[in-house]
Amino acid sequence: MKKILVTGGTGFIGSHVVVQLLNKNYQVFVLDNLSNSKKIVLEKIRKITGKLPNFIEGDIRNINLINQIFNENIFEGLMHFAALKSLSDSEINAEKYYDNNVVGSNNLLDIAVKKNIKKIIFSSSAAVYGNQKSAKVVETMLLDPITNYGKNKLLIEKKIQKFQTESKNISFVIFRYFNAVGAHPSGIIGEDIRETTSNLMPLVSKTAFGQIKKLTIFGNDYPTKDGTGLRDYIHVEDLAAAHIKGLEFFPKNKNISTFNLGVGKAYSVLDVVKTFELVSKRKIPYEFSKKRPGDLAECYADPFLANSDLQWKAKLNLEDICRDVWNFQIKNPIGYE
Ligand SMILES: NC(=O)c1ccc[n+]([C@@H]2O[C@H](COP(=O)([O-])OP(=O)(O)OC[C@H]3O[C@@H](n4cnc5c(N)ncnc54)[C@H](O)[C@@H]3O)[C@@H](O)[C@H]2O)c1
Repeated sequence: MKKILVTGGTGFIGSHVVVQLLNKNYQVFVLDNLSNSKKIVLEKIRKITGKLPNFIEGDIRNINLINQIFNENIFEGLMHFAALKSLSDSEINAEKYYDNNVVGSNNLLDIAVKKNIKKIIFSSSAAVYGNQKSAKVVETMLLDPITNYGKNKLLIEKKIQKFQTESKNISFVIFRYFNAVGAHPSGIIGEDIRETTSNLMPLVSKTAFGQIKKLTIFGNDYPTKDGTGLRDYIHVEDLAAAHIKGLEFFPKNKNISTFNLGVGKAYSVLDVVKTFELVSKRKIPYEFSKKRPGDLAECYADPFLANSDLQWKAKLNLEDICRDVWNFQIKNPIGYE
């Protein structure tokens, strides 16, 4: 059985990828420090797949631990999800984000490259694009991240390029995700939300459920069809499927391949609210507030490269996303506790 190491594998996206890897009969090792996830996720994964992934509780910054993991196992691939992910928090706690995300990734990747891991997949973000002239973003654009979070992701992408120039034998896949949303169709795993989340979809869901009285929508005077911001929302099941395609893609590729993972279509905040109301059959009260600094009017992926090179295409639409988030909300009213 081929072994895959998944950092951040108890987190939102990582856990959905672990499910698909186990279903494809990979032997999965999860490394996570549980700073933004819970151990119970492993049991939930077993409930879905009938298999329990190997779990190592630890930090990607722990050099001894990472060396030990690679000394004890021969991995077919490494999928690196572990990171802190709040854009706004990365502005307040810049050093903490740099240490966790950049220092941690450098440490992990240095060791993985030394150990000659052939397939490495890195979770980057649409945040590396920053404010582009065109709302539709293509992988080849000049990158100009605005937030510390985006700048950190770019530093790691550059580190990966450095590996490539130093040794042509290593290949990487870099995935730039757009807005990851949705949940497993079983409703067993999904996005386990902290009190402080500023992500739209969980807030919409909690408002529909009555846990939040009124949804705050930031900005209704953007130059968009209804004045609210437009984003590319991609179902986490589609994202997970792209990772499986990514693994299969490696033998043909000895380079760095960077792919946008998005649907290629932008929905407004009000589109999301209306679709969620339809699916949940609940009313979602909302109010408008001022735009948040740094928020873009519109941003969506050009997914052409992933569609053609990986033979991957997002299959699920906004209605599917809202249905699965609502199902997860009903089955986990207070999250994973
Ligand atoms: N969710 C999105 O919309 C989105 C968009 C673009 C990129 N990304 C990237 O995708 C990846 C996964 O995101 P997610 O939404 O699943 O986040 P998440 O917070 O749910 O999962 C990240 C996991 O990494 C773990 N972790 C964090 N720091 C660690 C460390 N130092 N050592 C070990 N484990 C650590 C956390 O405990 C958590 O389980 C991240 O790299 C994130 O930056 C996410």
